[in-house]
Amino acid sequence: MGHSKRSKHGKLQLPVAYDSWITRTACNKGRGSKPSPLFFRHMQVQNLSKTEAAEQFIIALLVVYFCTVQSEVPVLKVLGIMGSPRIKGNTDLLLEEALKGARDKGAETEKIVVDKLKIAPCKEYLGCFKDGNCVIRDDMDTVYPKLLNADVVIIASPMFFYGLTAQAKALVDRSQALWARKHILKQNLPGPGRKGAFIGVGATKGKRLFEGATLTVKYFFEAIGVEYADELLVRGVDARGEIKQHAAALTDALELGKRLVQK
Ligand SMILES: Cc1cc2nc3c(=O)[nH]c(=O)nc-3n(C[C@H](O)[C@H](O)[C@H](O)COP(=O)(O)O)c2cc1C
Repeated sequence: MGHSKRSKHGKLQLPVAYDSWITRTACNKGRGSKPSPLFFRHMQVQNLSKTEAAEQFIIALLVVYFCTVQSEVPVLKVLGIMGSPRIKGNTDLLLEEALKGARDKGAETEKIVVDKLKIAPCKEYLGCFKDGNCVIRDDMDTVYPKLLNADVVIIASPMFFYGLTAQAKALVDRSQALWARKHILKQNLPGPGRKGAFIGVGATKGKRLFEGATLTVKYFFEAIGVEYADELLVRGVDARGEIKQHAAALTDALELGKRLVQK
């Protein structure tokens, strides 16, 4: 026990002590990868040639390296901004599917319902031009860090008069503080590589239905340092929850969420 062996095919097999050490310490998520005293004791008692010992040591290091790298893959954070005042409405259901898709691929998700927050419209005090912070104290205080910490931002809104809802637009306009950090104060925002997506829903079917909102979202993403990476634009949906009859749109939302958290 504890000695290395060559299998029938000449492949080097790790001694039991190495195997168990690797399994217990290196591959055990959340624990350190320091060799235990047991590991060192087994190294000494084994009667190995120098080449065999070196070979085993390299294999052990490789296993530790790959296990550590695997366990340290960061969990992506996805922020969903729900811009409709209608809970469980079309926008909400589509966003929920997208967030589910992201979770299915291992991401962490958070949804904020803008209508439930107190977000005043921008008053153009331009205090943010001085230090990158808005002078208005309201729920945007909690939204700024979320916008900066997310790896993926999804903004979802129904079309209200060919644009975002007033609730979503207030949040967008208040992101001027982050625009100021970038363009006035020349500060670096988190990134690069952060992604953004737009989910839009409207009752009518016109070709140009999402043009205004899409432009707004593109400049919003630019302001917060996020790349406009994807979109899902659904036409012809009006009544509350009517989207449930559009299975393809819900599947598209799920796939959008998955795509956003994949490389
Ligand atoms: C104030 C208001 C304005 C609207 N403006 C438009 C519009 O310009 N174009 C359109 O296609 N639908 C318009 N709609 C319809 C909504 O976009 C549609 O009902 C949508 O499915 C609502 O989504 P929700 O359930 O997520 O709130 C409007 C609805 C409201 C209440």
